Amino acid sequence: MALVFFLVLLFSSIISPKVHACSQTERSSLLASFTHTLSSPPFNWSSSINCCHWNGISCNQDGWVTHLILASKGIKGGFKLASLANLTHLTHINLSHNSLYGSLVQTELFLSLKSLEVLDLSHNLLSGKLPSSLPSSNILTVDLSSNHLHGAIPPTFFHGAWHLTSFNASNNAFSGSIPSSICLQHSSPLIRHLDVSSNNFNGIILPGLGDCSKLQVFRAHHNNITGLLPEDIYNATELEEIALHFNSLYGAISDRIVNLTNLAILDLSFNQLSGVLPFQLGKLSKLSHVILDFNNLRGSLPPSLMNCTNLIEVRLGANNLGGDISTLNFSTLSRLSKLDLFWNNFIGNLPTSLYSCRSLQAIRLSVNNLQGQIYPEILSLKSLSFLSLGEIKLTNLAGAIKILMRCKTLRTLCLSGSFISGANLDDNSMG
Ligand SMILES: *[C@@H]1O[C@H](CO)[C@@H](O)[C@H](O)[C@H]1NC(C)=O
Ligand SMILES: *[C@@H]1O[C@H](CO)[C@@H](O)[C@H](O)[C@H]1NC(C)=O
Ligand SMILES: *[C@@H]1O[C@H](CO)[C@@H](O)[C@H](O)[C@H]1NC(C)=O
Ligand SMILES: *[C@@H]1O[C@H](CO)[C@@H](O)[C@H](O)[C@H]1NC(C)=O
Ligand SMILES: *[C@@H]1O[C@H](CO)[C@@H](O)[C@H](O)[C@H]1NC(C)=O
Ligand SMILES: *[C@@H]1O[C@H](CO)[C@@H](O)[C@H](O)[C@H]1NC(C)=O
Ligand SMILES: *[C@@H]1O[C@H](CO)[C@@H](O)[C@H](O)[C@H]1NC(C)=O
Ligand SMILES: *[C@@H]1O[C@H](CO)[C@@H](O)[C@H](O)[C@H]1NC(C)=O
Ligand SMILES: *[C@@H]1O[C@H](CO)[C@@H](O)[C@H](O)[C@H]1NC(C)=O
Repeated sequence: MALVFFLVLLFSSIISPKVHACSQTERSSLLASFTHTLSSPPFNWSSSINCCHWNGISCNQDGWVTHLILASKGIKGGFKLASLANLTHLTHINLSHNSLYGSLVQTELFLSLKSLEVLDLSHNLLSGKLPSSLPSSNILTVDLSSNHLHGAIPPTFFHGAWHLTSFNASNNAFSGSIPSSICLQHSSPLIRHLDVSSNNFNGIILPGLGDCSKLQVFRAHHNNITGLLPEDIYNATELEEIALHFNSLYGAISDRIVNLTNLAILDLSFNQLSGVLPFQLGKLSKLSHVILDFNNLRGSLPPSLMNCTNLIEVRLGANNLGGDISTLNFSTLSRLSKLDLFWNNFIGNLPTSLYSCRSLQAIRLSVNNLQGQIYPEILSLKSLSFLSLGEIKLTNLAGAIKILMRCKTLRTLCLSGSFISGANLDDNSMG
């Protein structure tokens, strides 16, 4: 008797599993979104009436669709984002790396997706302007990078997106001001990653970033931004990366930069910055990349820089820097891989302390007023592949060539204005 009862229980639990099927509305919303894509509807979506079992779809226990994950599925064609508006329980949308086109302007869509946390539409062919605001107060991550979106970021765009931690708009055609007020009232004070690089943003960087107390990565390189570095950026003390290369910024780097004690990557190359390097720059002990080439910086290298033992790359070429670099002792920089001081006014003897930087792969000191000698100890740089000493007065040119020919790793060598090439020397660049 007990056995029969048990079997009945077992059987009924098999035929009526406690998972609810998705509703007709949810099913038709999903199908409607993709009716114009080439693989429409994607995959075998029509194979089951319960859309919770479809490829790329997950539901919660009550049968509401929560996840739409179809990244890198080769989906091509017009995408009706607006049709997703009825999927009000969606928390994750990831359609990145497809060939979807269409527009995001349907504001009502974003307003109805109240539970959305992750929206990744990156690497598609989406065009048009941004809607006036982001989906919801639950939104955490928005990646719209590598599309054809344009226009200004609406002033209200981040309103109510309290929990947003990551916003990526890079590689589009956005214009207007960069969204530096993102952390101000009604907006997203918790932002950690803000990437608006490779767009057509212009104008100055308006104050506001100083209120981003969690900001770690700030990228706005490859735009048309002008003006000074905003004074309040030095208040965003969690910053680990500032990447503003290829813009038209001018003015000096403030001494207040030493407040950014977490800074590892500082790339301000290809701007019109002037002034001297902050004397206490070396207080930034986490610095790994100091990339300031192609500016109008003057003055000498702050000796404190030799305290930055995590430095991997130092590029200061094409500035008006000067001073006697033989007085600096580079031997503390054991991780230094690239040193580029080319086209400045440095004077003095070639610094032999560089021979102690065992990670060095590329050294460019050409076009300076340096002089001196190459010593056999340079052969202790076991990874050296690029050495450019053009226009430097070498006192032992023949001896230098003899020594350097014994350097098996060297692929590019430039001495005193004449390029030397050999069996193991071929093209390579500082880049
Ligand atoms: C969404 O829901 C509304 C009414 O709730 C309905 O009129 C509309 O057809 C639905 N859209 C889709 C794509 O199912
Ligand atoms: C097609 O759908 C069935 C069930 O509906 C599923 O078992 C199968 O894995 C799906 N095929 C693909 C390629 O996703
Ligand atoms: C979206 O999916 C791709 C591919 O799986 C993944 O690399 C990416 O991190 C996902 N995006 C988000 C925001 O999780
Ligand atoms: C933003 O997206 C671009 C391209 O998809 C990517 O290379 C970059 O690393 C992303 N930025 C951040 C901060 O993750
Ligand atoms: C950059 O902005 C200036 C005005 O500030 C404008 O004259 C110029 O055409 C812009 N350059 C590009 C490449 O958009
Ligand atoms: C930076 O922060 C300090 C202290 O919180 C504040 O007094 C100052 O006004 C801020 N500077 C800017 C430019 O916002
Ligand atoms: C920033 O540094 C200055 C001195 O350079 C100091 O007076 C100020 O208190 C620092 N501000 C913060 C927020 O650490
Ligand atoms: C390097 O750091 C040490 C200890 O923090 C300090 O005493 C020294 O003055 C610093 N060197 C330079 C050149 O700033
Ligand atoms: C550089 O400093 C190291 C110790 O850190 C010392 O051994 C070496 O002699 C110094 N080299 C020069 C050229 O001053």
